[in-house]
Amino acid sequence: MKQKIKTLFDDPAKMNVLVLGGGGREHCLAEALSKSRITAELHVAPGNPGIEKIAKVHDIDTRNSFSVKNFCAAFDIEFVVIGPEAPLAEGIADSLRENGIKVFGPGAAGAKLESSKAFAKLFMRRHGIPTSRFDICTNQEECRAALLPRTAPYVIKADGLAAGKGVFLADDIREAEALCGNLLCGAKLGTAGMTVVIEDFAPGKELTVLAITDGKTYRLLEPSRDHKRVFDGDKGPNTGGMGAYAPVTLPDGIMDMVRDIVLVPTLDGLRNEGIDFRGVLYMGLMLDETGGSPSLSVIEYNVRFGDPETQAILPLYSGDIGAALLAAAEGNLDDCDELVHSGCSLCVVMTSGGYPGGFKRGFPISGLEKELPGVHIYHGGTRHGAEKEQKKILTAGGRVLSVVGVGATFTEAKEKAYEMVSAINFEGAHYRKDIGWSES
Ligand code: GLY
Repeated sequence: MKQKIKTLFDDPAKMNVLVLGGGGREHCLAEALSKSRITAELHVAPGNPGIEKIAKVHDIDTRNSFSVKNFCAAFDIEFVVIGPEAPLAEGIADSLRENGIKVFGPGAAGAKLESSKAFAKLFMRRHGIPTSRFDICTNQEECRAALLPRTAPYVIKADGLAAGKGVFLADDIREAEALCGNLLCGAKLGTAGMTVVIEDFAPGKELTVLAITDGKTYRLLEPSRDHKRVFDGDKGPNTGGMGAYAPVTLPDGIMDMVRDIVLVPTLDGLRNEGIDFRGVLYMGLMLDETGGSPSLSVIEYNVRFGDPETQAILPLYSGDIGAALLAAAEGNLDDCDELVHSGCSLCVVMTSGGYPGGFKRGFPISGLEKELPGVHIYHGGTRHGAEKEQKKILTAGGRVLSVVGVGATFTEAKEKAYEMVSAINFEGAHYRKDIGWSES
């Protein structure tokens, strides 16, 4: 591997940056970093064909700390941005920091907010953060005792990481007990399901709020809403996300509530427990507006940028996102400029037919060359065709592309996104036609 030699002519304010991950979220993060004043060379692993246009991509094992550390040494990487949850849960951020590398993303202790639902629930209880009542169960008797006093829909969560497939709603108690049995014995999700959290159903509308933080201070990003079900009308199984939009129109005072009763107590709690959290805190919230005054509760924390929320949120920002990520990693977020945003965005995820169930890969994608002002296309499950020089891009995963429209209004953003979507085609392509329904 070629080592970069620093010369007197290198700009000392710039550094070589590595992004770990290869989905739409990482394409969007890489786009922001490629424009940042902090970036000298931009590297992404494993990346994808879309990312290849703005960064050097490399095939390394992103969950193996030796591979990542060796790569950083070989390519003179000073700053690493970790996209997905798995390397964070594995403690990749810890081992990079031990080697003096700046990292955007928490260590394994902070990542437990996402990698263990039971840990997150107990953390919220300890720190008075609103979340629905829950029981943590490790055997069938405990599950039965937790289910009996509750009514349908029964909410059952696998404790561990499950790539968005660890939350279940059951309409009757028999179905709930059977589900718990399948999780506890490892049949459904392996070790991730061997502890389950059973909690009260929280009514309302889901809301995602992300905050970039250095553990002390924070920058709240615009509120967004993800659409997790595969079909229009929020029907069908859950997916990794079929689309998102930002900002969500909220009643007055909701973002203040998010800050005061969720974000600040969470950051205080992390600090009080000795957890140095530098990265992004994803607050998956339920907003219930049915009572006299709106109420908020936390459904889940994630410890990384959301996908596809990131693809909807970051294009709204005109400032230097890369500099903000670096400031958070260095513990200097207070010194960083406020992030400036404008307009509205809407992201439509195009998937392979059959996803989130079985699907075929390898279909050529047409229409990618079309350019529309205010439209971003982020690659996820794509790959080059065998004849790379023919420039064919093929489908290679479930969530193939995130197509984002940005405009002065929500309607404009939506029209742009869907105009682009209708120009792109591949065999079996599926997408929801109603992203943003709750806003229109
Ligand atoms: N959009 C949901 C997630 O990123 O987990």
